[in-house]
Amino acid sequence: MMWLVWLVLAQQPVVHEQCRQCHTEAAADAESHPHFAKGVSCDACHGASEKHRAASGHVAPDRVAVRAQVPALCGSCHPAEKKSYETSRHWVALQEGGRSAQCATCHGNHSLKSARALQATCERCHSQRPEACGKEKCSTCHAPHAFAKAAKR
Ligand code: HEC
Ligand code: HEC
Ligand code: HEC
Ligand code: HEC
Ligand code: HEC
Ligand code: HEC
Repeated sequence: MMWLVWLVLAQQPVVHEQCRQCHTEAAADAESHPHFAKGVSCDACHGASEKHRAASGHVAPDRVAVRAQVPALCGSCHPAEKKSYETSRHWVALQEGGRSAQCATCHGNHSLKSARALQATCERCHSQRPEACGKEKCSTCHAPHAFAKAAKR
């Protein structure tokens, strides 16, 4: 983990600037995330993608995670959240290929979602809720990242 962050820090400014030339929106979003201040940028998740850059985007980047691979990508730096997430119904449904929540569904690909936006994301998939849910913030009763059914916190 530490060496990884160091490696990322050492390469970050150069690669980030080059990606930004073509991906201004993704770059602006990524800069607004706490990741950026800690040296986590494009190459941490997509690789340095030299061939992609040289071919003006006509060759795929080194790494583009499909939905089911995102937990492994994020979990490489957030192992505790990944472990807990893998106990959830979300993880089971994701592996079954259904429309389920993975890390980036809830937190965003590049810019971090506010607490309010995060709650709105839950409500998009769970518009029908048992009466027991009431009106409080979801995570008051359903602890991240297991999000078990009746967990009282
Ligand atoms: C010379 C322009 C250029 C540069 C520089 C560039 N890209 Fe791209 N990139 C493109 C184009 C064109 C596409 C395909 C169209 C699109 O999705 O915008 C693309 C697509 C992508 C995608 C989506 C691929 C997919 O299959 O959905 C990712 C991820 C990506 N680029 C990452 C990067 C990263 C990371 C860097 C820096 C290391 C980078 N790009 C630098 C032009 C560029
Ligand atoms: C913390 C991980 C992470 C970082 C850092 C990151 N990305 Fe991504 N990016 C993702 C994920 C997850 C997706 C959606 C699935 C995929 O394509 O891997 C994505 C998707 C994309 C896409 C496809 C279209 C879109 O915008 O969703 C582009 C283009 C892209 N990233 C470019 C970049 C560039 C340029 C940077 C740096 C400025 C960057 N990404 C930094 C995780 C990251
Ligand atoms: C290369 C390592 C690395 C990768 C890959 C990575 N992260 Fe992070 N993440 C970090 C670091 C470092 C921090 C900052 C921790 C701190 O400030 O204490 C962080 C912080 C966060 C935070 C907390 C932000 C806050 O302060 O509220 C969230 C949420 C997060 N990451 C989600 C993700 C998601 C989702 C992915 C995958 C798309 C991902 N991370 C991939 C290293 C990484
Ligand atoms: C169903 C939505 C959801 C999914 C899926 C999800 N998270 Fe979270 N995550 C949350 C919520 C809610 C919080 C707590 C935010 C709060 O209470 O302010 C959180 C908090 C975090 C934090 C901040 C530190 C902490 O533990 O409070 C990190 C880092 C994080 N998540 C990473 C991840 C990673 C990595 C994955 C995938 C393995 C993931 N999350 C999947 C909803 C989700
Ligand atoms: C992209 C859609 C999606 C999003 C976003 C989403 N969920 Fe889910 N959720 C699912 C699916 C799919 C299941 C599994 C349903 C099943 O197994 O029948 C599920 C199951 C659950 C369960 C039941 C767990 C159990 O033990 O039965 C809870 C609680 C839950 N989600 C809470 C949340 C919360 C809180 C958030 C936001 C932080 C959230 N979900 C975001 C799709 C989503
Ligand atoms: C006051 C505590 C509390 C809050 C806040 C809460 N829930 Fe629940 N939730 C529960 C309990 C208790 C159950 C189990 C109810 C049952 O089994 O009948 C439950 C069950 C669920 C289920 C499983 C439903 C099923 O049919 O199996 C989902 C999905 C869910 N909640 C989503 C949410 C979402 C999304 C939010 C936020 C918008 C939320 N909950 C807020 C207590 C809460």
